[in-house]
Amino acid sequence: MKYFYRLGHIPELGKIEYKSVSESEIENSTTKWIITDNSVNTHKTGSLVFGGVVHHIWNQKTLNLKDFQKTLSNIIKESDGKYKKVGFAVLPKLRNNLLQQIKKAGAKKINIISRSEPNFGNWKGLKHWFITFSIDDKIYLGEITSFSNQEFWAKLDTKLPHLDMKRGIINLKLARSLNNLTKNKNVYDPFCGQGRLLISAMDIKTNYIASDIDEEVLPELQKNYEKAVQVWTNKWQYIEKNDDIKLATINSIEAIGAQQIDTLKNDNLKDFSIVTEGYLGKTFGKNPKLKEITEQWEKIKNIWINTIRKSEEVGIKEIVFCLPYYPSYRPPGSNKVEPLIPDFIQDLNEGTDYQYEKLGDETEYILYTRKDSRTGHLILKLTKR
Ligand SMILES: C[S@@+](CC[C@H](N)C(=O)[O-])C[C@H]1O[C@@H](n2cnc3c(N)ncnc32)[C@H](O)[C@@H]1O
Repeated sequence: MKYFYRLGHIPELGKIEYKSVSESEIENSTTKWIITDNSVNTHKTGSLVFGGVVHHIWNQKTLNLKDFQKTLSNIIKESDGKYKKVGFAVLPKLRNNLLQQIKKAGAKKINIISRSEPNFGNWKGLKHWFITFSIDDKIYLGEITSFSNQEFWAKLDTKLPHLDMKRGIINLKLARSLNNLTKNKNVYDPFCGQGRLLISAMDIKTNYIASDIDEEVLPELQKNYEKAVQVWTNKWQYIEKNDDIKLATINSIEAIGAQQIDTLKNDNLKDFSIVTEGYLGKTFGKNPKLKEITEQWEKIKNIWINTIRKSEEVGIKEIVFCLPYYPSYRPPGSNKVEPLIPDFIQDLNEGTDYQYEKLGDETEYILYTRKDSRTGHLILKLTKR
């Protein structure tokens, strides 16, 4: 059996998250799709949009309409009424006469859309969707079996009582992906802020420790967490019926700087992985000066050098974290924009036993940005040798 997954807007993140959650490799991929031998629940990830089983693969050249519709009809006929209500997002050339064929095969309610993929609303209405897509010289026929619940994430976002725009609001799905980059169920966020890292993955982790240098933010984290427990408990986060989920608990919350994690009262840190957005520095206006950026970077570099040393002292084995980068920096005198990447990544783990894991296709880091955002997240993972 083969499976397919639709990657989100940062394909490299989807690929590494898939590998980490499934503990397996990817057979084939493009910027949109991955094909694999192992299934994962799309809901458990932050970056996979939907996924399912591959029913059939054709060669582009040899695929004809009759063959396609016969294969599809057989799947429906042999399903014992599973596809009474069914949707299709298939290539235009495969839509001819499709409705009649599918009716003949036994489906009663049929939705054929002209887009190449259903959206979450389409999916929620019907649950059974067939889709075609091409990779290289092959055409795949897939059936979507899980779809990331966009409504749940929007609801969780709007229900949280504390949102500090100045501090920066990490996208909850990015936060979930970061959590998935470690298998450890015990997670420590030493730059916790209002706790979105923790809130995004309460169903996939067990214990949290949270700390932040700013003590004012900690009651806000507590309030956000309490509200998040209610939202997560509504039991509709996966759409399909699901076993009761056990939500993670917060073991401790403390006001300390990340460079002082050796003074944390919690003494079993060696069982925890650090997963954090980190501190991303000042939020800049349109085109910050290089000097302003390097000042922020210098500060962040020092925080991380010390934090990583202390992490080693307390026995932490993995650190998933972000540095700020500037996706559309315009060098003086130029009218072209280009990403500006921190130049100190290799300095952070020097003299320690941590090494970077390769997260991207070619690089140890992944660059994550959203349309129009001025500061991007450069995602890194350090592992103890
Ligand atoms: C980008 S925000 C993190 C937001 C957080 N991910 C959330 O969900 O709210 C960065 C946080 O780092 C904290 N911070 C800055 N310098 C710090 C340091 N040296 N040690 C610990 N926390 C620090 C700030 O107070 C702020 O809450």
